[in-house]
Amino acid sequence: MSKIFNDNLHTITLSEDGSYTAYSKEYEEHYHSTKDGALKESLVKHVLPAFSVVSQLSEICILDICYGLGFNTLVTLLYVKENFPNKKIKIYSPELDSSLVKSLKNFTYPQEFECFREIIIALSAEGIYEDEHTYIELFIGDAREYIKKFENKFDIVYQDAFSPSTNPILWTKEYFSDIKKCMKEEGVLTTYSIALKTRLALYENGFKIYLNSGEDFRDATIASFFELARYEEVNMPHKISCNKGVLSLRDATLLN
Ligand SMILES: C[S@@+](CC[C@H](N)C(=O)[O-])C[C@H]1O[C@@H](n2cnc3c(N)ncnc32)[C@H](O)[C@@H]1O
Repeated sequence: MSKIFNDNLHTITLSEDGSYTAYSKEYEEHYHSTKDGALKESLVKHVLPAFSVVSQLSEICILDICYGLGFNTLVTLLYVKENFPNKKIKIYSPELDSSLVKSLKNFTYPQEFECFREIIIALSAEGIYEDEHTYIELFIGDAREYIKKFENKFDIVYQDAFSPSTNPILWTKEYFSDIKKCMKEEGVLTTYSIALKTRLALYENGFKIYLNSGEDFRDATIASFFELARYEEVNMPHKISCNKGVLSLRDATLLN
């Protein structure tokens, strides 16, 4: 058991693949699926499907929503180190919880991340890291504000906020409209959410919706503006007709 979370807002949980994740008492939710495992979830629901779409690029620009414990960023670095050591990677990641970020230098990460200790410490202390191949910046603040700064920039978006029922403001139609603006036409978005409301909010913004499924993890979603031949497209008109009255989440309903 790690000792880092003495803020009374988090506890630590050992997940199914042997990696530790956290539980937020504020959101009443785990940071990762404890059944899939923190490291594995990040790899199979975000990094592998995203890189299967954009791996031909020599430089890849990633929006990691939200940094949390940093698994999506760190698994990306691991995957690139092992498979594409010469690729340039730029990662931009908003996170509301500054005390969480500060505490991460003491988090009990999987052994696989040991080679990134210098990066973990720099991000935890300064919120920024740069070397010849890598640029990572954390933004301590609201993701909704942060994403408005960017246009046509990201090849990959990891959509990994707390769930739509817990943190709906990061899953609305208007939110995904801002996400669309900051993505490139050839970009790809990954998320663990398979909720119809999530997929609808993406679909209403022009995304095609694909199923990310595997034998040993729970289904997830991939979204893009173009055809992804290797993934099964979700028939959204059919889903909508079978679920009469289904609506995407909207800012106006949440803010009223
Ligand atoms: C599910 S966790 C992210 C897990 C993370 N991707 C990882 O791999 O460890 C969700 C995170 O969103 C943060 N958060 C909640 N609302 C936010 C907002 N409006 N802007 C930025 N971060 C937010 C929470 O503090 C929490 O750390």
